[in-house]
Amino acid sequence: MTTEEQNYFRVEIRPSMVSFDCREDETLLEGAGHSGLHLFSNCQKGECGTCKVRIKKGQIKLAPFMMSALSMSEIDADYTLACRSYPRSDIVIVAELVGRVDMQHYSRTKKSKKKASSPAE
Ligand code: FES
Repeated sequence: MTTEEQNYFRVEIRPSMVSFDCREDETLLEGAGHSGLHLFSNCQKGECGTCKVRIKKGQIKLAPFMMSALSMSEIDADYTLACRSYPRSDIVIVAELVGRVDMQHYSRTKKSKKKASSPAE
């Protein structure tokens, strides 16, 4: 399978209005990293909770994690762990990025070179 044939979903990060392409077989943390963006993280295996983000819109598949990193009440409030979450649709997350980045779409596919949409939604 070539890069262009793989299934990418678009992940938009609020409030920075930065977005990136994430494959269905990589976590949000990995997808961001492969796009040159960095979400806060530490253990990268669902144990510390440093990579906690809130899902504002869309579907994810959550891989096993330690309950000390993410509680049931946080899951009920739409929080997830970026290092354990695989996209299953285009999604919007609320998260902080490490460092300053331009407000744009960080594309890994030829077909989605579009600029990030305006914050007015
Ligand atoms: S980086 Fe530790 S839980 Fe995700």
